Amino acid sequence: MKQQKLLHLLLWLFATLPFTLFPYTASYAEDTPFRIEFVTNYKSFQFKAQEELIKESKAIMPDEIKSLINDAMAEGLSQGQRMFMLDAANAMASGYNYYHGGGKRLLRKIGKLIKAELEKEKAKNAELMKWNNEERFLGNFVMKTYEKEMVEKKLAPVIYPHWVHRIWFECKVCHQDIFIMKRWRNDITHEKFEAGQQCAKCHDGELAFSTEENCDRCHLAGKPEADRLHDASRIDHRAITAVADKVGAKWDASRLPGRRLPVDRFGFIDWLTMKKAGVFDPIHSLDENYKPETRDNMILFESKSKAKNVLFSHDVHSSWIKCSSCHPEVFSETLTNNVKMVRMSKGQYCGHCHGKVSFTFADCTRCHIQEKGVMFDGALLHIGKPKKKKKKS
Ligand code: HEC
Ligand code: HEC
Ligand code: HEC
Ligand code: HEC
Ligand code: HEC
Ligand code: HEC
Repeated sequence: MKQQKLLHLLLWLFATLPFTLFPYTASYAEDTPFRIEFVTNYKSFQFKAQEELIKESKAIMPDEIKSLINDAMAEGLSQGQRMFMLDAANAMASGYNYYHGGGKRLLRKIGKLIKAELEKEKAKNAELMKWNNEERFLGNFVMKTYEKEMVEKKLAPVIYPHWVHRIWFECKVCHQDIFIMKRWRNDITHEKFEAGQQCAKCHDGELAFSTEENCDRCHLAGKPEADRLHDASRIDHRAITAVADKVGAKWDASRLPGRRLPVDRFGFIDWLTMKKAGVFDPIHSLDENYKPETRDNMILFESKSKAKNVLFSHDVHSSWIKCSSCHPEVFSETLTNNVKMVRMSKGQYCGHCHGKVSFTFADCTRCHIQEKGVMFDGALLHIGKPKKKKKKS
């Protein structure tokens, strides 16, 4: 009997254990000695001390609980802080109810508030997931640095679809002249568009639709109209061809088997197969005098594990990408970069592009392709991080 009572009490007082993870950092003018002591006990599981405190505080507790609820609902608190305070209020009310009886109305009120907060949290997570969902197609980036300003104009965030642009433009066209190859580094704004920069370098009403109208063609994240941008099979060949003719690129859908874009196992576009089939031929630069620079060699990465070796083609890569997109920021111009899978999966080295705009790491065999022990003719051998000489003891 006594044990059962104890168990109930523990359940009431510490029922909401996970929320004690949130720090009770906010400090309020209303912080009373009772509240401070209660929260300290609550956070550090001072069960005995809490029991004493509740027993001797009958007279003041209802007001203490109400004022804690009020403070919890004040503006400017983080969700974590608010939840922590509501949980503490809940524990106070439960303790009061247990030792002194009554306080059921307060308990109900707190229960409702906690439920509403949990709903809000769920909605917020769904909101975040929504933008993840809008990036489900490789290389589609949601742009919403200035979300507040967009909301004020009743506009959705922007989707920038890499794949649509890649059909007509090599990476070189944009990187690094128009955009640095790093998200959120470019501070994209309409003020810069008005000066003919960034997106408006092309979206000027001639080469591509203008940024002074057509708001919904870019501001479309989360709308049904965006679905098309996540599904390469819904490509409109006539429109793509018309733009290709205009910008001086090529799109020949008749070379596509079944007029469908070839995709990899993950449903993302297989650009190299498409290139080999002569389906498309993007331009290198908006500047007619630009002379493309390539480096025609291969680099062999010997894998020290069971995986096959990796062949990196400087030629393929530099035909799309400027040297300055990789050197020196992503790789030093040596054979001694410390390229490792773990680092790549964090966005370094090959992971600067693969998994973000180019095919993903899940596609192991597209990189690990070279039989071990077989040197590729003429390839340079990646050396890796030189081993430090052992210190003499
Ligand atoms: C029409 C212009 C354009 C073309 C062409 C283009 N990009 Fe981008 N790229 C962008 C923009 C815009 C961003 C986002 C910049 C920002 O958020 O500040 C970006 C960002 C990136 C990033 C940064 C990703 C990150 O997580 O930080 C990578 C990598 C990238 N592009 C790779 C490529 C590759 C590879 C190609 C060619 C296959 C390419 N891009 C072609 C416009 C372009
Ligand atoms: C190098 C030139 C260039 C740059 C830079 C560029 N675009 Fe485009 N974009 C185009 C062209 C050309 C089209 C096709 C226009 C058409 O269909 O009339 C296009 C089409 C689009 C589309 C429509 C895709 C579709 O199928 O409906 C979106 C969205 C878009 N661009 C967003 C952006 C955003 C956002 C930026 C800047 C972050 C940007 N573009 C920068 C050239 C560019
Ligand atoms: C070619 C694509 C494109 C078109 C068309 C376009 N926008 Fe934008 N817009 C952007 C991008 C990219 C941003 C920056 C996104 C970010 O916050 O990271 C932006 C940001 C904004 C912002 C917030 C920041 C700022 O620069 O003011 C507002 C407001 C806005 N756009 C309104 C409009 C309106 C209104 C129209 C139509 C008259 C329009 N946009 C048409 C691409 C476009
Ligand atoms: C996609 C990224 C990428 C691009 C683009 C690129 N490189 Fe490299 N580069 C590499 C990698 C990866 C290595 C090997 C790094 C290692 O083994 O540690 C390398 C190594 C080098 C080296 C030393 C090995 C050698 O080939 O002699 C030089 C020099 C070099 N790059 C020059 C260039 C020049 C010039 C361009 C432009 C024409 C260019 N790179 C374009 C990724 C790139
Ligand atoms: C700056 C961006 C970038 C970096 C960094 C990069 N790649 Fe790529 N890679 C591309 C693009 C773009 C393609 C074309 C296919 C695509 O986009 O899916 C490609 C294609 C490939 C291919 C298929 C073409 C071929 O050569 O047969 C392989 C393999 C490959 N990359 C390996 C690597 C390896 C290994 C590294 C690191 C040592 C690396 N890539 C770094 C952008 C990059
Ligand atoms: C974009 C190209 C690329 C893709 C895709 C890729 N790898 Fe790698 N991987 C490399 C490179 C480059 C190295 C460095 C080789 C070395 O150790 O010098 C490497 C190294 C490795 C190593 C050696 C240990 C290490 O951490 O460096 C293992 C194991 C490995 N890869 C497994 C995989 C598996 C499994 C997959 C698929 C899930 C995969 N890789 C996909 C490029 C790739």
